[in-house]
Amino acid sequence: MVKKIAVLTSGGDAPGMNAAIRAVVRAGRSFNLEVIGIHEGYKGLVEAGENYEVMTRRSVTNIIARGGTILGSARLPEFSQHEVRVKGVEQLKEAGIDALIVIGGDGTYAGALRLHELGIKCIGLPGTIDNDIAGTDYTIGFDTCVNTVVEAIDKLRDTCGSHRRCAVVEVMGRYCGDIARAAGLATGAEFIVTNSENNDLQTILDQTKHFKEAGKRHPVIIVTEHLFDVIDLARKIEEYSGMETRATILGHIQRGGTPSCSDRILASRLGLAAVESLMQGVSGVCLGIQSNEIVATPFEDVIGKSKTIYSEFDELIKILS
Ligand code: F6P
Repeated sequence: MVKKIAVLTSGGDAPGMNAAIRAVVRAGRSFNLEVIGIHEGYKGLVEAGENYEVMTRRSVTNIIARGGTILGSARLPEFSQHEVRVKGVEQLKEAGIDALIVIGGDGTYAGALRLHELGIKCIGLPGTIDNDIAGTDYTIGFDTCVNTVVEAIDKLRDTCGSHRRCAVVEVMGRYCGDIARAAGLATGAEFIVTNSENNDLQTILDQTKHFKEAGKRHPVIIVTEHLFDVIDLARKIEEYSGMETRATILGHIQRGGTPSCSDRILASRLGLAAVESLMQGVSGVCLGIQSNEIVATPFEDVIGKSKTIYSEFDELIKILS
């Protein structure tokens, strides 16, 4: 029977992680479980000591509205080594921890799968702005991130409109185009470049010439990261189309900020479900939301699988832009 659980956040932080931590802690305490917050992700798990904090209901007071993660997050490449994971398991056992809830993305799940194989009960929750985790329609942090991007693009439209300029905006997402597509749809962006759509340079250039000829005053082109050097792309667009062009890289701004209502609710629901699952003896799965229902999927079916939800909207975006 599970008596003492731990929670950690790992990988890139995401708005709503704190709401998930709060839900885990408060659900755990209401079921009379001891709850440990592990600071600094898997690094803290392996190093133990002060990284293990006893959490009470009060430890998570007033964090639901805070961005980032109060537990901190760190990447530990060494966690792929068997000896390092065994050391982590020993630390958990020494602290009397029976089960672990990890909040993060693909790499976080990979670590949790290995711990599950070594006998630690593990549940994963999807925490990343990228929305690139299979097994869930939405990840915690995605909605807030898209709202941040929409606000930024609306502002860029103002200034581009005043100067008759084209805006090239680079957004995050790793290799998933959902941030670009969702923000593109919501801002009426003229062109969206993702891993699977419109990522050929000549296609982009021809499109911008067409914008110029059509007399567009402030076309916006959203580009998913890792595809182009957007400063160079803006220069090429300017040369080819004759339209003055500026590039903006939104960068880590997209990871900060107070979580949206939607992210807080998603995180709270998933946090409670994770604790309930552990109490029912479930392990080796990640939880997600599909058609507004909470679903559990084995880690093996999710890790390394790419997923996008907004590609369904490609046609809609084309018609409306
Ligand atoms: O996974 C979240 C994310 O913000 C990606 O969108 C981005 O590619 C990456 O993390 C950036 O990582 P870092 O904060 O380590 O530069």
